[in-house]
Amino acid sequence: MDHNNDKEIKHVFNSKIQHKHRVPIQNGFVFKFVKKDNDFIHTFSEGSFLKKLGLSSSSVVGKPLSGFLSGDQLNEARYCYETAWNGNIFSLEGSLNGFHYVASLTPIIINSEVVEVTGTVFEITEYRNSVLKIQELEKLSLIGELAAGIAHEIRNPLTSITGFVQMIQERSNDEITDTYLEIALQELKRINTIVNDFMFIAKPKENMEIRNVNIHSLVSYVIEFMKPQAILKDIQIVELIDSDLTFTTRCDPNQLTQVLINVIQNAIEATSGRQQKIVVSLKNVNENDFLIEIADQGDGISQERQKRLFEPFYTTKEKGTGLGLMMCKRIIENHDGSIEVNSQPGKGTTIRIILPKVSDF
Ligand SMILES: Nc1ncnc2c1ncn2[C@@H]1O[C@H](COP(=O)(O)OP(=O)(O)OP(=O)(O)O)[C@@H](O)[C@H]1O
Ligand SMILES: [Mg+2]
Repeated sequence: MDHNNDKEIKHVFNSKIQHKHRVPIQNGFVFKFVKKDNDFIHTFSEGSFLKKLGLSSSSVVGKPLSGFLSGDQLNEARYCYETAWNGNIFSLEGSLNGFHYVASLTPIIINSEVVEVTGTVFEITEYRNSVLKIQELEKLSLIGELAAGIAHEIRNPLTSITGFVQMIQERSNDEITDTYLEIALQELKRINTIVNDFMFIAKPKENMEIRNVNIHSLVSYVIEFMKPQAILKDIQIVELIDSDLTFTTRCDPNQLTQVLINVIQNAIEATSGRQQKIVVSLKNVNENDFLIEIADQGDGISQERQKRLFEPFYTTKEKGTGLGLMMCKRIIENHDGSIEVNSQPGKGTTIRIILPKVSDF
């Protein structure tokens, strides 16, 4: 190890001004620490990312790690600090308070002894989010390709199996066999639904059949259609439609019906208490847009889970496929609209679907 070189490095890092020149502290921060009495004490810290993390130079300098970290984060940071203090350069990627960063720790060694460790942290939240988005899109297009290929292959044998099961059922005189065949038919129906969902996800826009639709009638129809299911669980579906909202919109009525069925179905499945309500409202937003709101008093969804709702195959249900909300989002976006989720665990969930009154399809 070249000791003169070490001294030069130490000199550079001891100077606040040099830090500013050497490190783009707008996108992160730099810091230094030493080990004293078996604890790591920060001796320097500067950079705009500190503020985003809810920290400041004064809340870091002179303080040990436990001054601003706790739990697992404290243990992980201690491990990294210890590794660097033992003479190793250490790099890591991590997150704190919803922000993502890459960090590196470099020990300053003088006379074969670590006298100080310098750290640089760069924020990569935006970069990481765009990478995740790209991955999400890739996942979707892969699913699309898979869907188109597999669905056709599965559909034909599925149709003949269903036909044969029905024929056997007609010829059967045995009650137990009948029960088994009934279960087999139900399961075949389920596979058929999944295959159809897959095909839909592959080419939703091409399948759109746009017509003039009275939105009031469409919402009322879906509510009537879903009522028997709700009644079985002793849930009331309440319709709140402004009487003057009788406008006609251009949309694919089958697809919009599918969206409302999916969302109301989710609301019913999330509601376990008896005599609870699901309120479906149709409201005017402004002269261009209208809103369909579905509010339940069910389990609600935690913040963590809310982020994943529109992912394909995200489900918390034993028999769910996790394609329902993803399909809803696709359909609504193809109609130039948007769908939002608002939820409080233990209190309920409100889904807001905003659509244009007139669209140029
Ligand atoms: N109103 C709601 N209240 C609570 N949780 C909900 C609600 N709507 C959706 N969820 C959560 O979001 C998940 C995804 O919903 P989604 O409709 O996409 O799939 P699913 O209902 O599980 O399956 P399926 O494909 O059969 O619809 C659900 O498993 C559930 O955990
Ligand atoms: Mg669902």
